[in-house]
Amino acid sequence: MIPRELGKSGIWVYPIGLGGMPMSIQGRQGPGQSIRTIFAALDAGINFIDTADVYCLDNSDIGHNERLIVQGIREWQESRPVTVATKGGMERPNGAWTTNGSPEHLKAACEASLKALDMDCITLYQFHAPDDEVPFSDSVGALRDLRQEGKILHVGLSNVSVSEIREAQKIVEIASVQNECNLYVREAFDEGVVSYCEEQGIAFLAYSPVGGHRKHRRVLEDRLLREIAQKHDVTPYQIALAWLLAKSPVMIPIPGASRPENARSSAEAVSIQLSAEEIAQIDAHTK
Ligand SMILES: NC(=O)c1ccc[n+]([C@@H]2O[C@H](COP(=O)([O-])OP(=O)(O)OC[C@H]3O[C@@H](n4cnc5c(N)ncnc54)[C@H](OP(=O)(O)O)[C@@H]3O)[C@@H](O)[C@H]2O)c1
Repeated sequence: MIPRELGKSGIWVYPIGLGGMPMSIQGRQGPGQSIRTIFAALDAGINFIDTADVYCLDNSDIGHNERLIVQGIREWQESRPVTVATKGGMERPNGAWTTNGSPEHLKAACEASLKALDMDCITLYQFHAPDDEVPFSDSVGALRDLRQEGKILHVGLSNVSVSEIREAQKIVEIASVQNECNLYVREAFDEGVVSYCEEQGIAFLAYSPVGGHRKHRRVLEDRLLREIAQKHDVTPYQIALAWLLAKSPVMIPIPGASRPENARSSAEAVSIQLSAEEIAQIDAHTK
């Protein structure tokens, strides 16, 4: 297993992270199972966890996932360092997902995340999604200010295009970009975001890497993935992750999990070596 760097931060992480979202949104399991899921991920070698203030049920529950992740890491019996990345720039009025990229909101959200995470400084703080109502440069400027104030160490973006990444880089150094990316949703490849991240030494965090919170079962019905999985004696989910890892050296998939066995299984995908032919077959298969 060769670790991957979070941009040029000097922080090297296990090539697959843990996405915290399924542990805190609608349909979530109880805290006991979530803590066991975090333990399973950490025991398997994962040392990077993605969360957000809005991974919760609604505005009255903001920070649910951040508090859970910190609790899990604290209760874990080992002292290996774990990097937690969180996000700001969205809200959950009555459970809906809305953007708020105003500098005032981002600054207040960062303060709330520092409290929920019980930290003095957030290692990687990501702007969750551009807000049509707020100039992108104002939102990114707020993250630059937070960095200058020592509240965050590195800045990440999410749900952005190449031109937005370029615009943000004029304001502050960008360590990571987090966009949707899996074998069925390939815009990040097709529109050049992944190759731009490679060129710039920015980590690309693939969200929904096994198809997404609601659609992930699609990989189980995928004939080609099942065939390749059978040959390697692994699961189709693990093949979907191994394919992403093979696509770029800056790729760090962050599969979500709310069950320990799924977090463990995702972590194990780093040891799968797909042949060039298998990669080409998957490339051609679902395009
Ligand atoms: N930046 C953004 O706008 C954004 C948007 C969406 C997601 N995200 C981030 O990306 C993470 C991942 O995305 P996602 O949760 O939407 O989708 P996903 O990772 O593609 O799918 C998650 C679901 O797939 C199942 N799963 C994952 N790995 C598996 C495995 N190895 N074997 C069997 N089942 C497996 C899990 O089921 P169980 O729950 O039953 O374990 C989980 O709920 C989120 O948790 C979140 O941190 C970011």
